[in-house]
Amino acid sequence: MKQKQWVLAGRPTGAPSVDNFRLQEAPLPVLTTGKALVKTLYLGVAPVMLRYMRNETAFERPMQIGDVMAGRGVAQVIQSDCPDLPLGAIIQARLGWQEYALIDAAQYPKPFILPHTDLPLSYGISTLALSGFTALVGLREIGKLKPTDTILVSGAGGGVGSQVAMVAKALGAQSVVGIAGGPAKCQALLSKMAYDVAIDYKNDCLEERLDELFPSGIDVFFDNVGGPLLDLVLARLKRRARIVICGGISEYLLEDGDRYQYKNLQNLGRQDAKMEAFFVYDYEPYFSSYAEQLAAWIRAGIITPIEHISEGIETLPQALVDLYVGANFGVRMVHVGDVS
Ligand SMILES: NC(=O)c1ccc[n+]([C@@H]2O[C@H](COP(=O)([O-])OP(=O)(O)OC[C@H]3O[C@@H](n4cnc5c(N)ncnc54)[C@H](OP(=O)(O)O)[C@@H]3O)[C@@H](O)[C@H]2O)c1
Repeated sequence: MKQKQWVLAGRPTGAPSVDNFRLQEAPLPVLTTGKALVKTLYLGVAPVMLRYMRNETAFERPMQIGDVMAGRGVAQVIQSDCPDLPLGAIIQARLGWQEYALIDAAQYPKPFILPHTDLPLSYGISTLALSGFTALVGLREIGKLKPTDTILVSGAGGGVGSQVAMVAKALGAQSVVGIAGGPAKCQALLSKMAYDVAIDYKNDCLEERLDELFPSGIDVFFDNVGGPLLDLVLARLKRRARIVICGGISEYLLEDGDRYQYKNLQNLGRQDAKMEAFFVYDYEPYFSSYAEQLAAWIRAGIITPIEHISEGIETLPQALVDLYVGANFGVRMVHVGDVS
């Protein structure tokens, strides 16, 4: 029996393109000692994958041209010689862009079993996995969110951003302002993603809108974008503000020498403020408690995952390309197969 898989055909020079990948057929892996054979159900895409393709992260193993593209997803264990990954379990793991994968419980990052299989299994890519955990870690552990804080979020219509206002409200926030590109996405922020005000960075004057909405400054900025936008916020901090550096997608396509030089960093000192980056995998020991908390909020109707799902493994390269042109609403993922 054969399976489909996407391999790296070339390295991107700027944004990823569909030509960077090649679809091929390969034999199904054969179960070996201590391993589990899993069937892919959903695969997620994320901006960081561009950096995997360029071998720019120490986190993902280096990829050669012709290797199966790295990626995480939800899968069903269909054969097992691994007690920690029992037959039939629905898991979240590093699978690669392929229909079947041979994995083991010790691989890093460690696979985890999804306990909430009464909820849609796609939530194992969105709220009950890394993008939901990232929103929670960023707001609670890094942002130290308080109910009285004024809150601003960039990249608000993306995978992580689409969940930040809902998680903030679950943590007691009263009002959250989001920044996204274009009227349709801004409308979705208000109607689907629990934002109270939306700023369209492609059409509004950002400085004017920030001054109007935050006359006495910003307490918490959850930043997915970086660059000049972050600099505008640095100039508008309240005393003891917290800037959560989740990501910096506006900088990912730039060469080292071209990256934005910040002019307002000294305002951190003036305002006794804090700016802190984080890596969600550093919080791995808490993933199951985060999933419990987020599942409880979903069941209570406080959080509704916003998922942008395309059909079929063939759509994976386009799903990744979408992230860099702002064509995703919420968590972008691909439905690859169904439970057997
Ligand atoms: N710290 C961690 O552990 C961690 C974990 C997960 C993700 N992240 C980071 O968090 C950020 C968001 O990740 P995500 O998965 O939720 O991705 P995402 O927000 O879904 O990424 C795509 C969105 O970014 C926006 N975008 C693209 N290019 C842009 C640019 N040049 N300037 C401004 N906005 C741009 C687009 O929205 P618009 O239409 O609004 O432009 C696009 O829809 C990324 O930077 C990612 O690397 C960090």
